[in-house]
Amino acid sequence: MLKSTKDKTIKKAPMATDKIWNNVEFKGSFTKLSQLPTDSLLEVSFIGRSNVGKSSLINALVGRKKLAKVSGTPGKTRTLNYYLVENAFYLVDLPGYGYAKVGKADRRAFQKMVYDYLFQRSNMICTFVLLDLRINPMDKDIEFINLLAEKQVPQFFIFTKADKLKASERITQYEKYEKALLKHWAELPPHFISSSKTGEGIEELVNFVSQMIEDIKE
Ligand code: GTP
Ligand code: MG
Repeated sequence: MLKSTKDKTIKKAPMATDKIWNNVEFKGSFTKLSQLPTDSLLEVSFIGRSNVGKSSLINALVGRKKLAKVSGTPGKTRTLNYYLVENAFYLVDLPGYGYAKVGKADRRAFQKMVYDYLFQRSNMICTFVLLDLRINPMDKDIEFINLLAEKQVPQFFIFTKADKLKASERITQYEKYEKALLKHWAELPPHFISSSKTGEGIEELVNFVSQMIEDIKE
Protein backbone atom coordinates (compact mmCIF):
# COMPACT_ATOMS: atom_id res chain seq x y z
CA MET A 1 0.00 0.00 0.00
CA LEU A 2 1.29 3.44 -0.80
CA LYS A 3 1.57 6.12 1.78
CA SER A 4 0.22 9.49 0.96
CA THR A 5 2.83 12.18 1.51
CA LYS A 6 0.33 14.02 3.71
CA ASP A 7 -0.92 11.08 5.71
CA LYS A 8 1.83 9.02 7.20
CA THR A 9 -0.35 6.65 9.11
CA ILE A 10 -2.15 4.56 6.52
CA LYS A 11 -2.39 1.24 8.29
CA LYS A 12 -1.29 -1.90 6.58
CA ALA A 13 -3.79 -4.67 7.15
CA PRO A 14 -2.45 -7.51 9.30
CA MET A 15 -1.42 -10.51 7.24
CA ALA A 16 -4.41 -12.80 7.17
CA THR A 17 -3.91 -15.18 4.28
CA ASP A 18 -0.62 -14.53 2.49
CA LYS A 19 -2.05 -15.96 -0.69
CA ILE A 20 -4.61 -15.66 -3.42
CA TRP A 21 -8.08 -17.09 -2.92
CA ASN A 22 -8.29 -20.61 -4.26
CA ASN A 23 -11.85 -21.64 -3.67
CA VAL A 24 -13.71 -19.45 -6.14
CA GLU A 25 -16.85 -20.13 -8.08
CA PHE A 26 -18.54 -18.07 -10.82
CA LYS A 27 -22.08 -17.38 -9.60
CA GLY A 28 -23.58 -15.61 -12.58
CA SER A 29 -23.88 -12.49 -14.74
CA PHE A 30 -26.78 -10.19 -14.02
CA THR A 31 -28.33 -7.17 -15.67
CA LYS A 32 -30.92 -6.27 -13.05
CA LEU A 33 -30.71 -5.73 -9.33
CA SER A 34 -33.73 -7.98 -8.92
CA GLN A 35 -31.66 -10.91 -10.27
CA LEU A 36 -28.82 -10.58 -7.75
CA PRO A 37 -28.16 -13.27 -5.12
CA THR A 38 -30.43 -13.03 -2.11
CA ASP A 39 -28.17 -14.90 0.31
CA SER A 40 -27.03 -11.63 1.97
CA LEU A 41 -23.34 -12.56 1.79
CA LEU A 42 -21.02 -9.56 1.88
CA GLU A 43 -19.89 -8.13 -1.47
CA VAL A 44 -16.79 -6.25 -2.58
CA SER A 45 -16.99 -4.61 -5.99
CA PHE A 46 -14.56 -3.34 -8.63
CA ILE A 47 -15.32 -0.29 -10.74
CA GLY A 48 -13.36 1.98 -13.06
CA ARG A 49 -13.09 3.12 -16.63
CA SER A 50 -13.44 0.57 -19.38
CA ASN A 51 -10.15 -1.21 -20.05
CA VAL A 52 -8.57 -0.16 -16.73
CA GLY A 53 -8.10 -3.82 -15.77
CA LYS A 54 -11.00 -4.79 -13.48
CA SER A 55 -11.55 -8.26 -14.89
CA SER A 56 -7.80 -8.95 -15.09
CA LEU A 57 -7.43 -7.93 -11.46
CA ILE A 58 -10.18 -10.30 -10.36
CA ASN A 59 -8.46 -13.10 -12.26
CA ALA A 60 -5.18 -12.26 -10.53
CA LEU A 61 -6.84 -12.18 -7.10
CA VAL A 62 -8.21 -15.67 -7.60
CA GLY A 63 -5.22 -17.03 -9.53
CA ARG A 64 -7.28 -17.95 -12.57
CA LYS A 65 -6.33 -16.55 -15.96
CA LYS A 66 -9.71 -16.85 -17.61
CA LEU A 67 -12.39 -16.77 -14.94
CA ALA A 68 -13.40 -13.17 -15.66
CA LYS A 69 -13.45 -12.26 -19.34
CA VAL A 70 -10.68 -9.91 -20.38
CA SER A 71 -10.35 -8.10 -23.68
CA GLY A 72 -8.19 -5.62 -25.54
CA THR A 73 -11.45 -4.05 -26.66
CA PRO A 74 -12.98 -1.73 -24.08
CA GLY A 75 -16.53 -2.46 -22.98
CA LYS A 76 -16.04 -6.18 -22.52
CA THR A 77 -17.86 -6.50 -19.23
CA ARG A 78 -21.50 -5.54 -19.66
CA THR A 79 -23.07 -7.30 -16.74
CA LEU A 80 -22.63 -7.50 -12.97
CA ASN A 81 -20.48 -10.61 -12.61
CA TYR A 82 -20.46 -12.47 -9.31
CA TYR A 83 -17.60 -14.63 -8.01
CA LEU A 84 -18.16 -16.50 -4.76
CA VAL A 85 -14.94 -16.68 -2.72
CA GLU A 86 -14.30 -19.35 -0.09
CA ASN A 87 -18.09 -19.78 0.17
CA ALA A 88 -17.99 -16.63 2.27
CA PHE A 89 -18.32 -13.45 0.18
CA TYR A 90 -18.61 -12.17 -3.40
CA LEU A 91 -16.24 -10.28 -5.63
CA VAL A 92 -18.33 -8.31 -8.11
CA ASP A 93 -16.88 -7.29 -11.49
CA LEU A 94 -18.77 -4.24 -12.75
CA PRO A 95 -19.07 -2.85 -16.29
CA GLY A 96 -16.63 0.00 -16.91
CA TYR A 97 -17.73 3.58 -17.31
CA GLY A 98 -16.62 5.99 -20.01
CA TYR A 99 -16.69 3.69 -22.97
CA ALA A 100 -17.65 5.97 -25.83
CA LYS A 101 -18.41 3.38 -28.46
CA VAL A 102 -21.56 1.93 -26.96
CA GLY A 103 -24.72 3.77 -27.98
CA LYS A 104 -26.11 6.48 -25.74
CA ALA A 105 -29.15 4.47 -24.69
CA ASP A 106 -26.98 1.46 -23.85
CA ARG A 107 -24.59 3.60 -21.89
CA ARG A 108 -27.41 5.14 -19.88
CA ALA A 109 -28.79 1.69 -19.10
CA PHE A 110 -25.34 0.45 -17.90
CA GLN A 111 -24.86 3.55 -15.88
CA LYS A 112 -28.21 3.22 -14.18
CA MET A 113 -27.55 -0.43 -13.38
CA VAL A 114 -24.10 0.32 -11.95
CA TYR A 115 -25.26 3.36 -9.97
CA ASP A 116 -28.28 1.48 -8.61
CA TYR A 117 -25.94 -1.30 -7.54
CA LEU A 118 -23.37 0.99 -5.94
CA PHE A 119 -25.88 3.22 -4.18
CA GLN A 120 -28.50 0.68 -3.14
CA ARG A 121 -26.88 -2.68 -2.54
CA SER A 122 -26.83 -2.89 1.24
CA ASN A 123 -24.53 -5.91 1.55
CA MET A 124 -21.84 -4.29 -0.65
CA ILE A 125 -19.27 -3.25 1.93
CA CYS A 126 -16.98 -1.27 -0.37
CA THR A 127 -15.94 -0.65 -3.92
CA PHE A 128 -12.40 -0.52 -5.28
CA VAL A 129 -12.03 2.24 -7.87
CA LEU A 130 -9.38 1.25 -10.41
CA LEU A 131 -7.24 4.00 -11.93
CA ASP A 132 -4.76 3.42 -14.75
CA LEU A 133 -1.41 4.60 -13.43
CA ARG A 134 -0.10 5.15 -16.97
CA ILE A 135 -2.79 7.69 -17.75
CA ASN A 136 -3.00 11.13 -16.17
CA PRO A 137 -5.93 11.70 -13.80
CA MET A 138 -9.09 12.26 -15.82
CA ASP A 139 -12.01 14.45 -14.83
CA LYS A 140 -14.30 11.51 -15.40
CA ASP A 141 -12.50 9.47 -12.71
CA ILE A 142 -12.33 12.30 -10.21
CA GLU A 143 -16.02 13.11 -10.76
CA PHE A 144 -16.95 9.48 -10.30
CA ILE A 145 -14.93 9.23 -7.07
CA ASN A 146 -16.52 12.42 -5.78
CA LEU A 147 -19.98 11.10 -6.57
CA LEU A 148 -19.25 7.93 -4.60
CA ALA A 149 -18.06 10.07 -1.71
CA GLU A 150 -21.17 12.23 -1.88
CA LYS A 151 -23.33 9.10 -1.77
CA GLN A 152 -21.21 7.78 1.11
CA VAL A 153 -20.13 4.64 -0.70
CA PRO A 154 -16.99 3.29 1.03
CA GLN A 155 -14.20 3.27 -1.55
CA PHE A 156 -10.54 2.43 -1.94
CA PHE A 157 -8.29 3.07 -4.92
CA ILE A 158 -6.20 0.66 -6.97
CA PHE A 159 -3.65 2.04 -9.42
CA THR A 160 -3.36 -0.54 -12.19
CA LYS A 161 -0.88 -1.65 -14.85
CA ALA A 162 2.13 -0.69 -12.74
CA ASP A 163 4.27 -3.13 -14.78
CA LYS A 164 4.11 -0.71 -17.69
CA LEU A 165 5.93 2.05 -15.82
CA LYS A 166 9.50 2.64 -14.76
CA ALA A 167 10.10 3.30 -11.06
CA SER A 168 10.52 7.03 -11.61
CA GLU A 169 7.39 7.24 -13.78
CA ARG A 170 5.25 5.57 -11.13
CA ILE A 171 6.19 8.17 -8.59
CA THR A 172 5.44 11.03 -10.97
CA GLN A 173 2.13 9.47 -12.00
CA TYR A 174 1.13 8.66 -8.44
CA GLU A 175 1.88 12.20 -7.38
CA LYS A 176 -0.36 13.54 -10.13
CA TYR A 177 -3.24 11.45 -8.82
CA GLU A 178 -2.51 12.43 -5.27
CA LYS A 179 -2.54 16.09 -6.22
CA ALA A 180 -5.81 15.78 -8.15
CA LEU A 181 -7.52 13.78 -5.40
CA LEU A 182 -6.30 15.88 -2.49
CA LYS A 183 -8.11 18.86 -3.98
CA HIS A 184 -11.26 17.07 -2.82
CA TRP A 185 -10.07 14.81 0.01
CA ALA A 186 -8.40 15.73 3.30
CA GLU A 187 -6.48 12.48 2.98
CA LEU A 188 -6.65 9.55 0.63
CA PRO A 189 -8.38 6.35 1.68
CA PRO A 190 -6.23 3.19 1.57
CA HIS A 191 -4.87 2.70 -1.92
CA PHE A 192 -2.81 0.11 -3.71
CA ILE A 193 -0.51 -0.20 -6.69
CA SER A 194 -1.12 -3.34 -8.70
CA SER A 195 -0.18 -5.31 -11.74
CA SER A 196 -2.20 -8.27 -12.91
CA LYS A 197 0.77 -9.20 -15.09
CA THR A 198 3.47 -9.40 -12.41
CA GLY A 199 1.23 -10.00 -9.40
CA GLU A 200 2.39 -6.82 -7.69
CA GLY A 201 -0.04 -5.75 -4.98
CA ILE A 202 -2.20 -8.86 -5.30
CA GLU A 203 -1.32 -10.51 -2.01
CA GLU A 204 -1.67 -7.20 -0.24
CA LEU A 205 -5.18 -6.78 -1.67
CA VAL A 206 -6.17 -10.33 -0.76
CA ASN A 207 -5.04 -9.72 2.80
CA PHE A 208 -6.76 -6.36 2.98
CA VAL A 209 -10.12 -7.71 1.77
CA SER A 210 -9.89 -10.88 3.88
CA GLN A 211 -9.22 -8.82 6.98
CA MET A 212 -12.09 -6.46 6.20
CA ILE A 213 -14.49 -9.37 5.82
CA GLU A 214 -13.28 -10.93 9.08
CA ASP A 215 -13.60 -7.63 10.95
CA ILE A 216 -17.18 -7.13 9.78
CA LYS A 217 -18.21 -10.66 10.66
CA GLU A 218 -16.88 -10.37 14.20
P1 GTP B 1 -14.07 -3.58 -19.34
O1 GTP B 1 -14.62 -4.94 -19.03
O2 GTP B 1 -14.11 -3.22 -20.76
O3 GTP B 1 -14.65 -2.51 -18.48
O4 GTP B 1 -12.48 -3.62 -19.03
P2 GTP B 1 -11.72 -4.11 -17.72
O5 GTP B 1 -11.54 -2.96 -16.78
O6 GTP B 1 -12.34 -5.34 -17.15
O7 GTP B 1 -10.26 -4.44 -18.30
P3 GTP B 1 -9.64 -5.87 -18.67
O8 GTP B 1 -9.30 -6.61 -17.43
O9 GTP B 1 -10.52 -6.52 -19.66
O10 GTP B 1 -8.24 -5.44 -19.32
C1 GTP B 1 -8.18 -4.58 -20.44
C2 GTP B 1 -6.82 -4.73 -21.12
O11 GTP B 1 -5.76 -4.31 -20.24
C3 GTP B 1 -6.48 -6.18 -21.50
O12 GTP B 1 -5.79 -6.15 -22.71
C4 GTP B 1 -5.56 -6.63 -20.37
O13 GTP B 1 -4.67 -7.66 -20.76
C5 GTP B 1 -4.82 -5.36 -20.04
N1 GTP B 1 -4.38 -5.33 -18.63
C6 GTP B 1 -5.17 -5.43 -17.54
N2 GTP B 1 -4.44 -5.38 -16.41
C7 GTP B 1 -3.16 -5.23 -16.78
C8 GTP B 1 -1.91 -5.09 -16.06
O14 GTP B 1 -1.84 -5.10 -14.82
N3 GTP B 1 -0.78 -4.92 -16.81
C9 GTP B 1 -0.81 -4.88 -18.18
N4 GTP B 1 0.34 -4.69 -18.80
N5 GTP B 1 -1.95 -5.00 -18.89
C10 GTP B 1 -3.11 -5.17 -18.20
MG1 MG C 1 -14.08 -6.28 -17.61
